[in-house]
Amino acid sequence: MKINILLSVLLGVVSHVMAVSLTSSSVHVSTSTRISTVSTSSKVSSTSLKASSTSVISATSTASTTPYWLETIKHQGISAFNQNSSYQVFRNVKDFGAKGDGVTDDTAAIQNAMSAGGRCAPGTCAGSTTTPAIVYFPAGTYLISTAIINYYYTQIIGDPNNLPVLKPTQNFAGFGLIDGDQYGGNGLKFAATNVFYRQIRNLIFDLTGIPPSNGLTALHWPTAQATSLQNCVFKMNDSPGTQQQGIFIEDGSGGFMSDLVFYGGKNGVVFGNQQFTVRNLTFYNAVTAIDHIWDWSWTYQGLSVNNCSVGIDMSAGGTTGQSTGSVTVIDSTFTNTGIAILTAHNSTSQPPTGGSLILEKVSLVNTPIAVQGPTGKVLGGGTTTIGGWGQGHEYTPSGPVNFEKAFTPFSRPSSLTVSSKYYTRSKPQYQSLPLSSFISVRSAGAKGDGVTDDTAALNAVLNSAAGKSVVFFDAGTYKVTSTLLIPVGSKIVGESYSVIMGSGTFFSNINSPQPVVSVGTTGQSGIVEWSDMIVSTQGPTAGAILIQWNLVSPASTPSGMWDVHTRIGGFAGSNLQLAQCPTTPSSSTVNTNCIAAFMSMYIVPSASGLYLENVWLWTADHDIDDPNNTQVTIYTGRGLYCASTKGTIWMVGTAVEHHDLYQYQFANTKEVFAGLIQTETAYWQPNPKAGVVTPVVAGWNDPDFSTSCHGVNGTFAACAMGWGMRVVGSEDILIYGAGLYSFFNNYNVSCSNPVTPPGGNGAACQTRIFSIEGTTSKNINMYDLNTIGSISMITRDGNSLALYLDNVNAYQDTIALFKSG
Ligand SMILES: *[C@@H]1O[C@H](CO)[C@@H](O)[C@H](O)[C@H]1NC(C)=O
Ligand SMILES: *[C@@H]1O[C@H](CO)[C@@H](O)[C@H](O)[C@H]1NC(C)=O
Ligand SMILES: *[C@@H]1O[C@H](CO)[C@@H](O)[C@H](O)[C@H]1NC(C)=O
Ligand SMILES: *[C@@H]1O[C@H](CO)[C@@H](O)[C@H](O)[C@H]1NC(C)=O
Ligand SMILES: *[C@@H]1O[C@H](CO)[C@@H](O)[C@H](O)[C@H]1NC(C)=O
Ligand SMILES: *[C@@H]1O[C@H](CO)[C@@H](O)[C@H](O)[C@H]1NC(C)=O
Ligand SMILES: *[C@@H]1O[C@H](CO)[C@@H](O)[C@H](O)[C@H]1NC(C)=O
Repeated sequence: MKINILLSVLLGVVSHVMAVSLTSSSVHVSTSTRISTVSTSSKVSSTSLKASSTSVISATSTASTTPYWLETIKHQGISAFNQNSSYQVFRNVKDFGAKGDGVTDDTAAIQNAMSAGGRCAPGTCAGSTTTPAIVYFPAGTYLISTAIINYYYTQIIGDPNNLPVLKPTQNFAGFGLIDGDQYGGNGLKFAATNVFYRQIRNLIFDLTGIPPSNGLTALHWPTAQATSLQNCVFKMNDSPGTQQQGIFIEDGSGGFMSDLVFYGGKNGVVFGNQQFTVRNLTFYNAVTAIDHIWDWSWTYQGLSVNNCSVGIDMSAGGTTGQSTGSVTVIDSTFTNTGIAILTAHNSTSQPPTGGSLILEKVSLVNTPIAVQGPTGKVLGGGTTTIGGWGQGHEYTPSGPVNFEKAFTPFSRPSSLTVSSKYYTRSKPQYQSLPLSSFISVRSAGAKGDGVTDDTAALNAVLNSAAGKSVVFFDAGTYKVTSTLLIPVGSKIVGESYSVIMGSGTFFSNINSPQPVVSVGTTGQSGIVEWSDMIVSTQGPTAGAILIQWNLVSPASTPSGMWDVHTRIGGFAGSNLQLAQCPTTPSSSTVNTNCIAAFMSMYIVPSASGLYLENVWLWTADHDIDDPNNTQVTIYTGRGLYCASTKGTIWMVGTAVEHHDLYQYQFANTKEVFAGLIQTETAYWQPNPKAGVVTPVVAGWNDPDFSTSCHGVNGTFAACAMGWGMRVVGSEDILIYGAGLYSFFNNYNVSCSNPVTPPGGNGAACQTRIFSIEGTTSKNINMYDLNTIGSISMITRDGNSLALYLDNVNAYQDTIALFKSG
């Protein structure tokens, strides 16, 4: 989403970063004043911690003899809507001349693999869905002398059985061995909040051959939704005075990362981005493991910090202008670390809810200070486990209470945990399977050309492969004209986000909704794994339910969806682009040809046992393939509807945007873990009001704004706008970090501009955004609830419980601790 302009106005930190970035190839922003609050003597050395880079790295990268199937499979992926019929999706850098011998400078060869075929380059292209690519690195050591400049819609993938190594030459120049968003005269060349659909996995970034005084960055990664980093190692120098850093993010609207290991460095990572979900990051021997320069909300799960001076430094901006809004840390460990958390928050710091912090089930081992505030130790450490501790605003019926204390953590349903930690499972890469275990849908007769009706071919191959082979969707757009059934036992993996596109009259009847993809049939038991794909629609498809999840899977081995997204409109081939669906803020006419979904995802009442990781359900707000990324108006009815009566659902790093009635709806469900969740209200609302395009259907538990808004006023006509999150008759919905945003009122952004003095227009795009309904709703609990543009932050049975003006943060409004009872 586009909110960069406002951000740069607001955030001095970011402009500082940008200024530094423009003049230096070795950016680091941690101010020495903050670092110097930590004495080096707090670096506790321990023989029990054996973390020398060499020993752990060699364990990580132990060579396996299994050839990686993705390297050896026949490469026949296509880009259906690229005019160039020979456009190549899969690019092995060795086919472009890279040697990977640790001696040859491979920069030009790798960059050619990235750019060949007229791809979307930073500076000349805002975005494109027609030039996807996998830039593949076989095992080897790749020496580079300048940054690999990342293009739009790129997956950079290494051999997981023998991680390739990227190494800089001594005279390396560039911001990051991989520069995910290059700087130009006007700042970042790609608008960071519009950088979607990219990944990096299975790589070692090795800076250790470079002098520690050279503050090289391994990866520059300003990025937005539907992006991920997985299974990478960052090796940095850990000599005294080291200036190196692993990942640098200063802007964007993320995002997800997992399974990363960092050694050494001044900063393991520098993080500044609206929101992110981060899982299983391990740091050894950094000065500061995580340096937060700003955020609205980040959720850390399974963090492991070892032998660092500071774990998370969230003190940027100081007590008078904290730029880190909120941080949630769960199921994490700090070992032999001087200070686990460094914060500028205290009872009088500004903004009032800046520096909101939640720690739940955080273990300390030989870590003397858990939380250090602006005037000294706030929470002692040692070797202990913090059940629940936090700071910020706590919701109480009589108004917000500013707290900084231990609290009773959420009670975790045992179905969601393993050894009392929340269950997690990384995206499968099937790297131990031989090539013979895979079946290509193109080899099986599907075309993926966006024109041919692939319904029958796909249903046939899915049916024959279930329980036997992994189904490989070669890159392409697979048009289907009736439901695609994913049978029990299926394992499905895409290539550069292969697209399934529902098209035609079967999906066009709003009164008879039909799934585009149905996972299992109602009541069926079994397991499905699905990764790296997109489900879409084409043209008017008011009756499409893009993904319907029917399966009953065990809590111990749930089904999973990783990096599977919905994308509705705003891309080449959708017939829902700028030409067909321009914005119409001054007209009240609805173009029914732009109604393109009934619902993004439906988890049916009988389904249970589902793990979602990095899933973004997006109704387009702009046309990615338009040279100016111009806004479009696409209408979709409902976002993610979870109606599972047994629940047992994990939502790790999910986001739902721009649907009419709601983004998330939980009805008659229970036992849901969700963190972080992120939503945006449709920019066109309330023109027309929510429920006008999407007639309310009682059987779907729809919210009825025509009755619920009766007598409710906003600064604008702003009540009948989609809920960010709505909970009806549900129990144990446990939210670990939320960003519910409403930036526009009929495309006018001034309503979310917090620079407007408090009491003025600020935060008044819509009246309410999060609703809990029904006497049977209980334990609807939330850490770090962040809202933007909504007057009321929480509504219970129509009554507002919390107002934004009482919980003001830097840009957003934050309640650190909310329990519904
Ligand atoms: C079409 O794609 C092929 C393969 O990537 C490439 O060699 C060729 O240059 C492309 N043609 C154009 C006009 O971009
Ligand atoms: C965490 O990441 C490491 C490195 O990729 C991996 O070996 C380990 O299995 C992961 N742990 C979890 C709990 O996912
Ligand atoms: C702790 O980190 C320092 C660098 O900061 C390193 O010199 C030392 O060897 C590390 N200790 C252990 C036990 O790894
Ligand atoms: C908060 O920290 C600031 C900066 O150290 C200090 O001036 C102020 O007195 C502190 N407030 C309280 C209530 O301790
Ligand atoms: C993009 O915007 C510029 C500046 O407003 C305009 O001149 C140009 O015509 C636009 N391009 C397209 C393809 O709309
Ligand atoms: C809504 O606004 C009208 C007109 O300003 C006012 O009379 C009414 O009391 C308001 N209702 C509520 C619930 O605030
Ligand atoms: C947007 O809203 C503001 C505040 O109400 C108003 O001053 C401004 O004129 C509006 N802009 C447009 C283009 O309507």
